[in-house]
Order: sequence, then C-alpha cells, then structure tokens
Amino acid sequence: MEPVTLSDILKIISQKLEGVFNADEIQSLKKLIVESILDIPYHSVFLNPNDEVKPEKLKEFDRVLTDIIAGQPVQYAIGYTHFFDLKIKVNPSVLIPRPETEELVSLVVKENRTKTPTILDIGTGSGCIALALANTIPDSRVTGIDISDDALTLARENAELNGLNVSFIKSDIFNPLALNNLHFDIIVSNPPYVRESEKPLMKSNVLDHEPHLALFVPDEKPLIFYEAIVNFAFNHLNRDGQLYLEINEALGNEVSELLKSNGFNDVRILNDFRDRVRFAVAKSSN
Ligand SMILES: C[S@@+](CC[C@H](N)C(=O)[O-])C[C@H]1O[C@@H](n2cnc3c(N)ncnc32)[C@H](O)[C@@H]1O
Repeated sequence: MEPVTLSDILKIISQKLEGVFNADEIQSLKKLIVESILDIPYHSVFLNPNDEVKPEKLKEFDRVLTDIIAGQPVQYAIGYTHFFDLKIKVNPSVLIPRPETEELVSLVVKENRTKTPTILDIGTGSGCIALALANTIPDSRVTGIDISDDALTLARENAELNGLNVSFIKSDIFNPLALNNLHFDIIVSNPPYVRESEKPLMKSNVLDHEPHLALFVPDEKPLIFYEAIVNFAFNHLNRDGQLYLEINEALGNEVSELLKSNGFNDVRILNDFRDRVRFAVAKSSN
C-alpha cells in the first residue's frame, strides 16, 4: 500500500468532514486534529508535505474523525483544550471550559494580581479556573473542590501536566464539611446554572455529550447553587474578601438581590464579551 503523507492526510480530513461542517469549521478542525495527533505545529505540514504518517497515527485520525462526525465535541475527541495559556485535558466527565469563563478568570486576575491571595474554586471540573489563577497570580494558594471523583482525577492530572500546585478536594457545596476550618481571600465559581426548561435551546453536541451534573438546575430552584455558595462565602471569606461568580444571563437581578440580602457589599453585575449579563462580583462585609 502507498504510504499516506502529511499532504494526503489534509485531503482525507477535508473529504470526510465535508457536508458535516462548513468550510471555516473544517479549516480549524484540520489544524486542531493534525496538531493534536501528530504533536507538530500545523505549519510543518506545509514544510514537509511528503513526510509519511505512521499506521498507528492513521488509526487515531480515523477514531477522532468518526467521533466528531458522530457529534462528539472535538475537544473530547482529541482529549484537551486550551484555557488561559494552559493545556487542559478534558473528557466527558467535565465541562469543556468556555471563553466566557476565561473572562471570569481575567476579572479575578486584573483585580488581584498584586496580592498573594488564598483562593477557592467551587465546582472546579477540569480545574481550569483554579489552575489558571494559580498560574497567573504569583504566590496565590489555590484550592479547587468538586463533587465528582472523575472530575477531580482529571483536575489533578491537569495540575501535573502544567506543573502547578493546586489542592483539589472532594466536597459537596451543599454539605462542605471538608472545608470547615478554611478561610479564603477570594472565592470563585462557575456552578451549574442552566434551567431544565432551557434544554430545548441548547445544541445537541452540548446536551448529548457534556455532563448534566455540571450544567443543569431545577426550574423551581434556579439559584440553588448560588444560595449555597453565598452562605458558604459569608462564613469563609476573610475580611474584604471577594466573591466572583459566573451567572445565568437571565438571573442577574436575582443574583444581585441574593448577594445584597446576605450582607455582601459593592455588588456588581457585569457583561461578557458578547454583551450578555454573565458575572456577579461582591465584597464580604465581615
Ligand atoms: C459549570 S461546571 C464548571 C466546571 C469548571 N469550573 C469550568 O468553569 O469549566 C460545574 C461543576 O460543578 C460541579 N458540581 C456539581 N454539583 C456540585 C456540588 N454539589 N458540589 C460541588 N461541586 C458540584 C460539577 O461536577 C461541575 O464540575
């Protein structure tokens, strides 16, 4: 059999993805898939188009293409994504980190980079927020909690992959016994906030592949996580400590009221880069 070259592999990917994705999507998928499977920068395909692709790599291309044609998000198929300059491994037990969550991290960094804070990330998932903060705020001490063992396993692998020191602890925010004696300067969270009734508005690649534990809350209790987090933060934030939350765009006023009625000061509701209500920030009054 003729060897398959780097130049051939680009044609094969295009042919298989045509009709499933549009031309722009195919271009960015080609780059992601080639870089991840061959572990080379994309431009080297054009420098060495006649280099041979090994048979085991061809099998890997086949698997990834089959998975994404079946609707799996490409980040799960290739096994990682990039978040705030870090390579973050992902699998279907964790949410794929979103660009708006990078904005949440930017906000925390901008307002705290000259301090040496203790930070808690509630619902850490892949560990993306906790690790990005540990990497960006010098001398910060960061803890991440999650209820999911599988998520915590991956978060620890991501800490190792990036050479970062973050403590990942199993804890349920509705019964956070493991954190009893701990206090923090900053608490940050991107908790589940999509109401069950919003499911029909979601794309099938999210709905069918990402963990529902990370996404959904009951319609009748849309603020259930925020209530638990605010209650926890009231008792565990240091004096002038700050709470940073990602929120459902439809619930800005409700989150603002919740924070004010629980004694938080300087409450801010902020928009994301698409100008949608997305973040709540508040200061502890203790
Ligand atoms: C929206 S995801 C956020 C993941 C990650 N922080 C990010 O921004 O990509 C919410 C996370 O909360 C976790 N979670 C769900 N219920 C929880 C609970 N009761 N206590 C702690 N974490 C919980 C989920 O496992 C999931 O990892």
